[in-house]
Amino acid sequence: MSLIRGRFQKEADAAVCRYTASIPFDWRLYHYDIAGSIAHAQMLAKQGIIAEKDSKEIVRGLKVIKKEIEDGKFQFKLELEDIHMCIESRLIEIVGDAGARLHTARSRNDQVALDLRLYTRDAIEITIDYIRDLQQALIGLAEENQKTIFPGYTHLQRAQPVLLSHHFLAYFEMLQRDILRLSDSLTRVDVMPLGSGALAGVPYKIDRGLVARKLGFSQISRNSLDAVSDRDFVIEYEAAASLCMMHLSRLAEEIILWSTAEFGFIELDEAYTTGSSIMPQKKNPDVAELARGKVGRVYGKLFAMLTVMKGLPLAYNRDLQEDKEGLFDVVDTLLSTLEVMTGMLKTLKINPARMSQALDKGYLLATDIADYLVTKGETFRGAHAVVGQLVHWAIENDKTFDKIKVEEYKKFSKLIEKDIYKLTSEVSVKARDNTGGTSPVKVEEALTEAKRILEEKK
Ligand code: ARG
Repeated sequence: MSLIRGRFQKEADAAVCRYTASIPFDWRLYHYDIAGSIAHAQMLAKQGIIAEKDSKEIVRGLKVIKKEIEDGKFQFKLELEDIHMCIESRLIEIVGDAGARLHTARSRNDQVALDLRLYTRDAIEITIDYIRDLQQALIGLAEENQKTIFPGYTHLQRAQPVLLSHHFLAYFEMLQRDILRLSDSLTRVDVMPLGSGALAGVPYKIDRGLVARKLGFSQISRNSLDAVSDRDFVIEYEAAASLCMMHLSRLAEEIILWSTAEFGFIELDEAYTTGSSIMPQKKNPDVAELARGKVGRVYGKLFAMLTVMKGLPLAYNRDLQEDKEGLFDVVDTLLSTLEVMTGMLKTLKINPARMSQALDKGYLLATDIADYLVTKGETFRGAHAVVGQLVHWAIENDKTFDKIKVEEYKKFSKLIEKDIYKLTSEVSVKARDNTGGTSPVKVEEALTEAKRILEEKK
């Protein structure tokens, strides 16, 4: 029998029960619900609102329940709606009247806000750890490939030579921004809402600071109406996760491209590839494809939650129950994607020979030749035009830069001398020696800095 239908003559319709229940998904909050209830009960006893012996009984009962859930023996009942009622009702079965005192000075509205904040706080910390693992894998690749030069692309056309390490460290930067966004959002998750009651606060002399300290919060909410209806922190996590998934999808896309026969830059480990049901020769990058594809559902959940919140009047409304499935799915999707991407990066093989072959074709040194002319006194725009004509001629005559004779070069600009042949990919890369550039010196510095960032937070 429901604990909260005293004013009703009828039980809820079965379809209504199924429609409104959140227990099929919010059972996952049990651990946080119990932690919150223990802190609340202990505070109530300390303030003399309930007896010390009742608080002890409550804590004992809650621990029994936790064990029952973890042993798979707990009965989650749909008719009890949610994890909060399931636990409270079982508590009353176990410890009787003491259990019936737990909900003093509390509402499910502030209780669920608390549970979700505790969940999100943990999710953020775990996510940051997972992102760091991926950053570590990128650092490993960057470290092993400090000498490998390959084509950097713009518009997916070969553009200029870059160090492969530099390319991997670009993803380190994206992930570092993800970490900063997530840790910044912690400040706003770190607010303890209990004591807000249903919406207006509670008429007991509670000690909110004590509950906050017990649960490791550094702030308490300042407005009860806001506290029970604020889900900004859910949206913030989903937004940060959306950006992170977007970064992962970019990395996944490059892995997919690079592992094609056309590129052949990398080879994926067999443990991170799948076969085809019809084509026996296939070794497919499904992990990377799914990582790329799963971004859609994460963006979707972000939009769903933004839409749930739009136009919602103060304070609690049942619409808010729609926060959980999306958030859980976003956390699960992001963590599993980070996990497989890390494994995939740690095991992939680089094919430096194919990378350097790709450097030979594509006139990647064209900008360097223009810069060469600039050092000899040509304007940059003038040099750009000269090299443009030179490339056109070279393509027509099927010649790479190193195969063009000085006399032929001279037809395009008198400023070109024998030293033109000193221009190589190595020289090109080495010349880009400002902070953020791809020179071996700067990349080495960036790598050291990346390692320091990763060490710092340990
Ligand atoms: N299951 C509800 C939720 O997830 C808990 C809060 C219910 N509060 C209420 N007044 N019905 O939002």
